[in-house]
Amino acid sequence: MDKEKQVSSSREQFSSSFGLIATAIGSAVGLGNIWRFPYIVGQYGGGAFLVVYLAMVAVIGVPIMVAEFIIGREGRRDAINSYKVLAPKSHWYFGGITGVLAAFFILAFYGVVAGWTLEYIILAITNGFSGQSSGDIVNIFTNFISNPIKPIIYQIIIMLITCGVVSTGVQKGVEKAAKFLIPLLVIIMVVLNIYAFMLPGGEAGFEFLFKPDFSKLTKEGVLAALGHAFFSLSLGVSIMITYGSYIPSKENLLGTAVKVSISDTVIALLSGIAIFPAVFAFGIEPTSGPGLVFMSLPNVFAKMSGGYIFGILFFSLLGLAAITSTISLLETIVAYLTDTFKFRRKNAAIFATVVITLIGMVASLSNGPLKDIVIAGDNIFDFLDNTTANYFLPITAFISVIFVGWKLNKDIVKGQFTNNGEINSQTSYEIFKFLIRYIVPVGIIIVFLFQIGKI
Ligand code: PFF
Repeated sequence: MDKEKQVSSSREQFSSSFGLIATAIGSAVGLGNIWRFPYIVGQYGGGAFLVVYLAMVAVIGVPIMVAEFIIGREGRRDAINSYKVLAPKSHWYFGGITGVLAAFFILAFYGVVAGWTLEYIILAITNGFSGQSSGDIVNIFTNFISNPIKPIIYQIIIMLITCGVVSTGVQKGVEKAAKFLIPLLVIIMVVLNIYAFMLPGGEAGFEFLFKPDFSKLTKEGVLAALGHAFFSLSLGVSIMITYGSYIPSKENLLGTAVKVSISDTVIALLSGIAIFPAVFAFGIEPTSGPGLVFMSLPNVFAKMSGGYIFGILFFSLLGLAAITSTISLLETIVAYLTDTFKFRRKNAAIFATVVITLIGMVASLSNGPLKDIVIAGDNIFDFLDNTTANYFLPITAFISVIFVGWKLNKDIVKGQFTNNGEINSQTSYEIFKFLIRYIVPVGIIIVFLFQIGKI
């Protein structure tokens, strides 16, 4: 048996379609869905923006995800080695390196933020927001993230959980965790939505989210839609290449990408419905990002009836969403270490966790004692965030679509897309080919130029 076949036959695979989809949704659904998407929808014209966002997901997001799946399922290795076997003696594997590095650096700061959610679950349980003024709530947050010890302890807990899941394996660890956590996340989301619908005075929140206002739909809005589609679907981090390498040959790649993208968008919308009616009902200023979930929302929880339970459920949801994403980031790195250096999975997971946690600690400290260290105008935390989002993600995604669109043998691409002719999808294949060859690369270049401030 040649070396390639040996790797393929011993490689773990997802045990079921549901497991595959839950795992990919686990990566896609994260903090971005909860604290960013709902806000940008409101900011850029509600329903009008939504239409543009859906188009971006369909035209740019889904094709990139399919392209990543194809590289992984054909290469049957981690991101870097998949490129290496598919294009030996070339430099295409650079696209895997940027992806794995992106996963590495994103996990360093994402793990810190995931840790913040634990502090807030505890604050919610111990009734820490009730009776506090909005100034007090802002102070709780700024004091907490600048504390040199506490956020690091939480970060370590998150990293240990992530490491525990990943070291258990693809089926028994990563997939099993997603099959349990994603339904739980959906249940919590539905409960929060029922709450939101019962709130008197929440109509303004629904209006903010859904009322189409084409005057707010600016060029910035369109580009924000594109950039967010990217981040929200976890594209450009080689995660979907890594997961692709575990997808059984019978699964339909396009169908999987469509299901994951729809679920990601639905969860982001449900998140908006859970948050904004409450924010508006209590006259709180809507903001985005950490400000929204850690400073605005606790004010709402402090005031609303049932806010105690709502707060606990909300921060638990945030924590779950973050952990399923940290798992996907670590898996991408561990797959590389096990495939390349033949590390045992457990050792690879421990090694990567230790190194990433140490970098994350420095990032956490840069919100406090190390805040004066500035790189390119940002503290270390924001530097990691901005560099990965602005450079690593677009570059990695760009290479993956150019590779699949122009370099990889067309029969291989078609074979993967149609499961060697089993799926009759000539038209969708032609559309896919056109999108990844022309439209998606141009879209990525535009987002890239926009993010680095050139347009
Ligand atoms: N897709 C995640 C979110 O929307 O929060 C964020 C993310 C996770 C991006 C993992 C990239 C990644 F590799």
